[in-house]
Amino acid sequence: MNKHDDNFYHAVITHFFPDAHNIRKPQVLGWVAPAIYIVDTKDQTLVCKFNQQEIILHNKHISDILNSHDISIPKTTVHNLFGTWFETYQYRPEKTLHELIENGISDEHIFIAYKKALEIQHKISQIKTSEISIPHCPRFFDIINCLGATSLYRKIFYISSLFGKQYLLHNDIYPRNILYSPETQEVHLIDLDSIAISNLSIQAITLFRHYPCQNTNELVQEYQKLTGHKPNTKLLWCADKILHTPGAIKYKIKNIIDRCR
Ligand SMILES: Nc1ncnc2c1ncn2[C@@H]1O[C@H](COP(=O)(O)OP(=O)(O)O)[C@@H](O)[C@H]1O
Ligand SMILES: [Mg+2]
Repeated sequence: MNKHDDNFYHAVITHFFPDAHNIRKPQVLGWVAPAIYIVDTKDQTLVCKFNQQEIILHNKHISDILNSHDISIPKTTVHNLFGTWFETYQYRPEKTLHELIENGISDEHIFIAYKKALEIQHKISQIKTSEISIPHCPRFFDIINCLGATSLYRKIFYISSLFGKQYLLHNDIYPRNILYSPETQEVHLIDLDSIAISNLSIQAITLFRHYPCQNTNELVQEYQKLTGHKPNTKLLWCADKILHTPGAIKYKIKNIIDRCR
């Protein structure tokens, strides 16, 4: 995607939403950090996320399928102005699990949020891949390719998503993509970019590498009960070496706080 400055994106947003005001960035950004804005309009608060045409059309297709199955995923609308594409969907008031962890949420809540995210993931995986339109190429590997420039090691690693039994899956379940309400214990998954055809081993890597509690046994049990799939510990170990970004953000954040004391 061509990078522009905030003024450019603001102008595109106000072209479609003339009453848009209070255009701001989310408190928590993902790793990819494309141009993403929260916008108030007269009637509602929207998220506007800019991306390449292929990704935006992919997300629309996925959003339509998942919403027709009553799965709690953003319902997107597509906009395009002279080749600048973005999607809009409703802003949700719940915080990301990432923010809640920074604010010291308990391990019990983290487990509940993940358990519910797994239940949503299971529902997604039950959708027949024949329902998915091939022209939008929603293989996880294609998405990674489209998002561009990842190292050779990562490429080899992501090629493995093309093997084994293929399911529609959210391939990036981690605290920044989980919205959670500690009051109602309701969970919403966000970030449609990563919902694509893949295999259970690949999505398990993100899921378990970033699980922010030290005791993963309970989650592994829950995961096996739901999917009948045993996470491959050797593959998880290799992924950690290849992707070499630390998981367990709770402990990462704690280390930073401890260092500042
Ligand atoms: N529907 C939403 N409601 C509230 N906040 C959202 C919503 N969608 C995205 N966000 C915020 O924007 C951040 C980035 O969105 P995301 O779609 O995950 O982009 P990225 O591809 O950069 O990871 C999220 O971590 C969250 O803080
Ligand atoms: Mg994200």
